[in-house]
Amino acid sequence: MLFLALWSGLLALTAQGVAQDYGTSPPVYPSPPTAGIGWDAAFAQAEAFVSNLTLEEKAQMVTGTTGPCVGNIGGIPRVGFEGICMQDGPLAIRQATYASVFSAGLTAAASWDRGLIFTRGLYMAAEFKGKGSHVALGPVVGPLGRSGYGGRGWEGFSPDPYLTGVAAEQTIWGMQQAGVQTSLKHYIGNEQETQRNPDLSISNTTIEAVSSNIDDRTMHELYLWPFANGVRAGTASIMCSYNRLNGSYGCQNSKTLNGLLKTELGFQGYVVSDWQATHAGVDAINAGLDMDMPGPVGGSQNASFFGGNVTQAVNNGTLNQDRVDDMVRRIMTPYFHLKQNEYPPIDGYEPTLNSRYPPYQYPFTLGASNVDVRDNHAQSIRELGAAGTVLLKNTNNTLPLKAPRTIGVFGNDAGDVVDGLYFSGAPFQQPQGYEYGTLPVAGGSGTGRLSYLVTPLDAIKARAARDGSLVRYILNNTLTTQPGALRTIAPVPEVCFVFLKSWASEGSDRVSLEANWNSTAVVNAVAATCKNTIVITHSAGLNVMPWANNPNVTAILAAHLPGQESGNSIVDVLYGVVNPSGKLPYTIALNESDYRFADITNSTELQQTEDPNAWQSNFTEALLIDYRHFDYYNQSVLYEFGFGLSYTTFDMSTLDIEPAVPSLEISPLPDAVPIVPGGNPTLWQVLYTVNITVTNTGDVAGASVPQVYLALPQIANSVPTPKNVLRGFDKITLQPGQSQTVNFPLTRRDLSYWDVNMQEWVIASGTVGVNVGFSSRDIRLTDQFVVVQEG
Ligand SMILES: *[C@@H]1O[C@H](CO)[C@@H](O)[C@H](O)[C@H]1NC(C)=O
Ligand SMILES: *[C@@H]1O[C@H](CO)[C@@H](O)[C@H](O)[C@H]1NC(C)=O
Ligand SMILES: *[C@@H]1O[C@H](CO)[C@@H](O)[C@H](O)[C@H]1NC(C)=O
Ligand SMILES: *[C@@H]1O[C@H](CO)[C@@H](O)[C@H](O)[C@H]1NC(C)=O
Ligand SMILES: *[C@@H]1O[C@H](CO)[C@@H](O)[C@H](O)[C@H]1NC(C)=O
Ligand SMILES: *[C@@H]1O[C@H](CO)[C@@H](O)[C@H](O)[C@H]1NC(C)=O
Ligand SMILES: *[C@@H]1O[C@H](CO)[C@@H](O)[C@H](O)[C@H]1NC(C)=O
Ligand SMILES: *[C@@H]1O[C@H](CO)[C@@H](O)[C@H](O)[C@H]1NC(C)=O
Ligand SMILES: *[C@@H]1O[C@H](CO)[C@@H](O)[C@H](O)[C@H]1NC(C)=O
Ligand SMILES: *[C@@H]1O[C@H](CO)[C@@H](O)[C@H](O)[C@H]1NC(C)=O
Ligand SMILES: *[C@@H]1O[C@H](CO)[C@@H](O)[C@H](O)[C@H]1NC(C)=O
Ligand SMILES: *[C@@H]1O[C@H](CO)[C@@H](O)[C@H](O)[C@H]1NC(C)=O
Repeated sequence: MLFLALWSGLLALTAQGVAQDYGTSPPVYPSPPTAGIGWDAAFAQAEAFVSNLTLEEKAQMVTGTTGPCVGNIGGIPRVGFEGICMQDGPLAIRQATYASVFSAGLTAAASWDRGLIFTRGLYMAAEFKGKGSHVALGPVVGPLGRSGYGGRGWEGFSPDPYLTGVAAEQTIWGMQQAGVQTSLKHYIGNEQETQRNPDLSISNTTIEAVSSNIDDRTMHELYLWPFANGVRAGTASIMCSYNRLNGSYGCQNSKTLNGLLKTELGFQGYVVSDWQATHAGVDAINAGLDMDMPGPVGGSQNASFFGGNVTQAVNNGTLNQDRVDDMVRRIMTPYFHLKQNEYPPIDGYEPTLNSRYPPYQYPFTLGASNVDVRDNHAQSIRELGAAGTVLLKNTNNTLPLKAPRTIGVFGNDAGDVVDGLYFSGAPFQQPQGYEYGTLPVAGGSGTGRLSYLVTPLDAIKARAARDGSLVRYILNNTLTTQPGALRTIAPVPEVCFVFLKSWASEGSDRVSLEANWNSTAVVNAVAATCKNTIVITHSAGLNVMPWANNPNVTAILAAHLPGQESGNSIVDVLYGVVNPSGKLPYTIALNESDYRFADITNSTELQQTEDPNAWQSNFTEALLIDYRHFDYYNQSVLYEFGFGLSYTTFDMSTLDIEPAVPSLEISPLPDAVPIVPGGNPTLWQVLYTVNITVTNTGDVAGASVPQVYLALPQIANSVPTPKNVLRGFDKITLQPGQSQTVNFPLTRRDLSYWDVNMQEWVIASGTVGVNVGFSSRDIRLTDQFVVVQEG
C-alpha cells in the first residue's frame, strides 16, 4: 500500500501566524521516464544494454545484493557487465585502507572556497576510482541543518541553501570529472536522526519514522534548493531518505520523487534508497524509486522488496515493464557517460571489510589488495583544513604567534586518539564520543578510516622545537578542572591552547551545543591562570561558547573537522603560515536556548507512544532557520553567519548594479521552455550583476570573502520572507594594498520566490535590497533595485 494520507489535522501556526495545514502528500503518477538529457550518447548505450536483458536480469540490475562493497549490483557476464560497487561516503572512501581522510563537508563550507571544494571532490573521487568503486555515497545536502542538534549536519555543508548548493555542485563537478558517480543525499527533509526509521515499540506495533511536514514554499526555497544545484551539476544518483514527508516515506513518496525531483527538476539519473529505507516494492517503484539498497530484507539474502518481486509483479501485470526498463536506463546512462564500463577492479581487500552477507550471489572481479590511493592528497587536505578554520576572536592581535618561549596545551582534543583510528562501533556511540584524542572527523557512515593522524599536539611540538619553545600539557579534562592542577605547568605559559571537541554521529542527535567533556570548566580553569588563552574547537556542528567573552580568552578558532592533517592545518593558522580566511557557515548564538525555534522532535511521550503516526515534525519556522531566524527577530548573536577574522583588514567600495538583460524584457515568470536537469533553464539565467571593489588595507596578504545578501519583498498570505538571504559570494586573495573588482551574477532563481498557488518561481514586484559586506551583519554597501514594477 501507499503511505498516503496517514494523518492530517488541525491548522498549525507558523512563525508569523499564517495558518498552515501540512496535509498529506499528493499522488503524482506515472513516474517520468529518463530521456538521458545531456547524456545522449550514453543514453543510447543504456538503451541498447537494456534491450539485451531478460526480465530477471533487469530485476537484478535494480536490486542490491551481497558483494564486496557497501552497496552492490551484481554483474551479468553474458553481456560483459561487471556490476556496480557503491561505497560510503561524503569525506573519504570510508572503510578502505591506504586511503585519505579528507575534511568534512562542514569544513569545506567554512572555507567558502569554490576551488578547494572542487579539488576535494576531484581527489576524493580519484581514491574511490582507484579502489574500483563506481559510486560515492555523497555529497550530503540533507540534512541542510534545520537544527544545530542534528547528528549529521557536519556531513553536509551549511544551513544556508545557497552556500550548500554551491558546495554541492563543486563537489559533484569534481567527483564526476574524476569518473565517479555521486549520490547526492538524503532526499529530503532528513533533518533529525531521532526516530529516523520505523521501529517496533513496546506494544508490537510498528511506530513509523518521523514525518517532516514542510510547506511547499519552504520546501522549494530551503530544502530542495541545493538538490536543484546538484541535479543541474549532473549528479548520477540521488539517495532518498529514511524519514517520511507529510506522512509518506521518502523512498516511496511520489510527490517528492516523481513530482519535485523527476518532473520539476528534470532529474535524469536514478534514485537509490538509503540502506533499508525501502518499505515496499511495486508501490515504491511507481512512486519513483529506481534502486533498492542494500537489497536483502528480513535477514534472508534472497528476499527483497525488489528482486524476485519485480519479476513476479511484471509477470502478473501489476508493474509495467517499461518502468523497469526506465529504472535500468536511469542506472546505466550515467555509468556509460562516465565510461565506467572500463574501470579499475574492486580492491581485493574489500570482502574483508564487507562480510555482511557472504556468500555472493553473483561474481565480482577483484583486483590487488590494499591498493594505496592516497597520492599527494595530504597537501590539499592540510590546505582545506586551514581554509575551513574560522578565527572568531583575536584580542590585540595575539595571533599569529611569533616564537613564544613557553606554551601550555590543554584539553582532551589536543593529543592522540587512544580508541583506534576508525570512529565506528562501540566506544564511538556514546553521546560524547571517545574521551581521549583529537576529533579530525566525526562518526557513523560519514566517517573515514585514518591511515595516520597529525594531532594538534604533534604539530605544536614540531613547530616549538624549531623555535626553542617549551611545551607542557595536561590533556585530562577532569584533572584540569581540579583546583591546583595547573601548578605543574609553572611558570604560567606565555600562551595557553585549549583544544575542545564536539562529537556527533549518524543515528543519534546531539544532546548539547556546548563542546563536550566539561569544556566550559576547562576553559575557565585555564583562563583563570593564563591570561593569554587561545581556544580551538573541533566540532561536528556549531557550538555555543559561554566562555567567549572571558577577557583572558584572547583568541577563538572554530576548526571544525579538518581531516587527517588536523594538527598541521591548525598550526599553519596559529603561526601565520596561513592567514585565516574561513567564515562561519552557520550562526553562533548567545545561548543554547536561542536555537529552540527548530527543535529536534523528541519527548518521553513520543518514545513511549503506541500511536504509529505520533512522530510528526512540523517545520513551523518555515524559512526562518539559522541567520534568517535571528535577523527576522532582530536577535543579538555571538558570531553571525558569514563572520570570520583575518590577520589583515579589508575594505569595500563602489557598489554597482546593472541588469544583465534589458530590464523591460524581464517578466515575473520564467519562460515556459522544456525542462532540463536543474529545472527550467531560464531560472539559471543571469538577470542582474552586482559589482564591488575589495581592498586589502592591512599589511599582510590574505583572502577575503565578500558576500551579497538580498532583501526580497514580503509575500501576502505566505510564510514570512527572510530579511536577508545570501545570493552571492566569492573568495579572493589580495596582497597588501591590492584592490580587486568582484562580480556577482544574480540569476532568476536568486530573485524569485516560490509561489504555491501558481506552482512557479515568481519575481515579486517591489524593491529588492542589495546588501554587500563581509558577513551577514557586517554590511558595508547597500543599494536597491526593482526588477518588476508594482501593479
Ligand atoms: C502538526 O501540524 C498539524 C496540522 O497540520 C497539527 O494537527 C499537529 O498537531 C501538529 N503537530 C505538532 C506536534 O505540533
Ligand atoms: C506537505 O503538505 C503541505 C501543506 O499541504 C504542502 O504544501 C506540501 O507540498 C506537502 N509536501 C509534500 C512533499 O507532500
Ligand atoms: C546485444 O546483443 C547483440 C546481439 O547478440 C550484440 O551484438 C550487442 O553487442 C549486444 N549489446 C549489448 C549492449 O550487450
Ligand atoms: C508482542 O508479541 C509477542 C509475540 O507475539 C507477544 O508474546 C507479546 O506479548 C507481545 N507484546 C505486547 C506488549 O503486546
Ligand atoms: C517480496 O517482498 C516481500 C516483502 O514485501 C518479502 O517478504 C519477500 O521475500 C519478497 N520476495 C522475494 C522473492 O524477494
Ligand atoms: C503480483 O506480484 C507482486 C510481487 O510479488 C505481489 O505483491 C502482488 O500481490 C501480485 N499481485 C497479484 C494480483 O498477483
Ligand atoms: C589590549 O591592548 C590595550 C591597549 O594597548 C590594552 O589596554 C589592553 O589591556 C590589552 N588587552 C589585553 C587582553 O591584553
Ligand atoms: C583523569 O583525571 C582524573 C582526576 O584526577 C582521574 O580520576 C582519572 O583517572 C584521569 N584519567 C586518566 C586516563 O588518567
Ligand atoms: C566534569 O567535571 C566534574 C567535576 O570536576 C567531574 O566529576 C566529571 O567527571 C567531569 N565530567 C567529564 C565528562 O569529564
Ligand atoms: C585572568 O588572568 C589573570 C592573571 O592570571 C587572573 O588574575 C584573572 O583572575 C583572570 N581572569 C579570569 C576571568 O579568569
Ligand atoms: C530522545 O528521547 C529519548 C527518551 O527520552 C532519550 O533517550 C534520547 O536521548 C533523546 N534524544 C535526544 C536527541 O534528545
Ligand atoms: C563591474 O566592473 C566592470 C569593470 O570595472 C564594469 O565594466 C562593469 O560595468 C561593472 N558593473 C557591473 C554591475 O558589472
